[in-house]
Amino acid sequence: MDKKLKVGVLYGGISSEREVSINTGKQIIENLNRDKYEVYDILLNSKRDILKCDGLDFVFIALHGEFGEDGTAQSVLETLDIKYSGSNSLTSGICMNKSIVKDILRNYNVKMAEGEIFKKHNYDLENFKLKFPVIVKPNSGGSSVGMGICNNKEELESFLQDVFKYDDVVLVEEFIKGREVTCGILNGEALPILEIITQNREFFNYESKYDDTTKEDPANLPSYLDEEIKNISKKCYEILGCKVYGRVDFIIKDDEAYFLEINTLPGMTKGSLFPKMARSIGIEFSSLLDLLIESSLKE
Ligand SMILES: Nc1ncnc2c1ncn2[C@@H]1O[C@H](COP(=O)(O)OP(=O)(O)O)[C@@H](O)[C@H]1O
Ligand SMILES: [Mg+2]
Repeated sequence: MDKKLKVGVLYGGISSEREVSINTGKQIIENLNRDKYEVYDILLNSKRDILKCDGLDFVFIALHGEFGEDGTAQSVLETLDIKYSGSNSLTSGICMNKSIVKDILRNYNVKMAEGEIFKKHNYDLENFKLKFPVIVKPNSGGSSVGMGICNNKEELESFLQDVFKYDDVVLVEEFIKGREVTCGILNGEALPILEIITQNREFFNYESKYDDTTKEDPANLPSYLDEEIKNISKKCYEILGCKVYGRVDFIIKDDEAYFLEINTLPGMTKGSLFPKMARSIGIEFSSLLDLLIESSLKE
């Protein structure tokens, strides 16, 4: 019999999304096929814990945010010569920076919300030109942590100080009111688009991401729009050099799709959006994990 592949699941971590990652990591550990893999549980409590991966054949990255999604953990694994899941360190680093991603994609005519960047120690609200309401986000954040909506300059001025606690760079965008959809990409191909329907929330905030009140349904879009969103998603994934998997978020307003962000490590609990998309085409969670590992090993 072939020797089993030594697969480490790296989860926890030091970012604001640690709790989410712990949940993800546990579910991945539970569902990895023991006939194929010898599974190593690697809960990351400090950055140095990543060195525990040394000697493994493969690492499944179940981290989110800083030191996990931002390319730094990936670059350590690259240095240790260990294969891991998903996009490489460069692409991960770029995709973590929402405003840089927007700057790149704007050159390819991807439609998106107007936005402005604010730097903690050097910003100017005098010449602020965006239309209110605006949505304010940590530029390198995730899981909607620290985000909020502001209706006027006074609210924005005070809320910015809160968001600077999460990130020295803050992205302020015009709030686009519309339907929210998300498109998963698996090895360069689009999965069925899901619509995210939150209950009585202004946007898909942290609570609604994890409190079970949100519904995710097949988006049922007119076929031209469905195709367009899939094409834009594939294009973004290609341009940014994503590998194996990713997920692109959009808001649809007046039958036009506005790009929000691309995720190089989409949520991977059993009930998360990406596994749900895969399940809708017959790929169960455990098989999805196999597929992600096999594809990543080929990169
Ligand atoms: N410009 C916008 N207009 C309307 N809603 C937005 C906008 N940007 C973000 N949102 C809402 O906030 C949520 C989180 O924003 P997103 O940019 O995807 O960051 P995160 O990395 O935290 O998921 C989105 O899922 C959406 O509901
Ligand atoms: Mg998002």
